[in-house]
Amino acid sequence: MKKIIVISDIHSNYAAFESAFNAVKEINPDGIIFLGDYVTDFPYPQRTMELLYKFNAEYRCWFLRGNREDYLLEHRKSQNDGWRYSSSVGSFLYTYENLTTADLDFFADLPHCIEIKSDCFPIITACHGSPKSTTENILTNSTAQIKYANNIKGNILLCGHSHHRKIVSVKDKEIVFCPSLGLPQDGEEYGHTWITLLTCSGNNIKAEFIDIKFNADALIDDYRNSELIKYAPIFSECIIKSLQISGDLAYQCVVLAWDYAKKDNFNGGKILPEKYWIKAAEELKII
Ligand SMILES: [Fe+2]
Repeated sequence: MKKIIVISDIHSNYAAFESAFNAVKEINPDGIIFLGDYVTDFPYPQRTMELLYKFNAEYRCWFLRGNREDYLLEHRKSQNDGWRYSSSVGSFLYTYENLTTADLDFFADLPHCIEIKSDCFPIITACHGSPKSTTENILTNSTAQIKYANNIKGNILLCGHSHHRKIVSVKDKEIVFCPSLGLPQDGEEYGHTWITLLTCSGNNIKAEFIDIKFNADALIDDYRNSELIKYAPIFSECIIKSLQISGDLAYQCVVLAWDYAKKDNFNGGKILPEKYWIKAAEELKII
């Protein structure tokens, strides 16, 4: 029986990634598929990149590009995008400044969707968001699910990006929504997260989610001592709190912050002044 591990949406959570590395060693898979969004949100992206290269040296790996890698690569092309230290884009800028040219070159070479063919297991289609784009989230879009499931050659489509874990059957095909390793959002117990295991026998592939325990307290301590919390203060508090409650407070906070800005007739571009982030974070009891 062949075993394949799928790791998605690490978002620089190197503590969870280290635990996943140890769990993968025990499982001893035949290959590992990475669905993208390796970095941004948590600090010290170098630690995530180091582990990524270690995986690549030790296992047969397939790597995809996520929307976060797209943003970083766009910034490399044109730095007139207004990125500055703020809760709106500070995490992107901090991450960009902590990556090397080699890291960005590595991302630039990656596809956002692949069809994996091997003599050892059935065809697997893997993408970050959807087969069409890194930003499309089809978790709740049954029309898109049917359309994409009908278009794949094999019987299984792997999607990251949603951060949720779910398996959807579309006739004889399955779409596996692989949970985020860095920021899972299904009410996980504090310090717990997921990787996905595919077991292949003959033409059948079975997907299951494997619980990974990591040291969230140490990660939060590191976060609080990092430059990232100074450069994107409210956003950082949202990520820390999201880890504690297993939800997406950064999204909720930015939506509410924009509501306040619109009521104020804010017309100053895409980067919100910090005062709106603070007001939203207070309202949501993040700070
Ligand atoms: Fe994503």
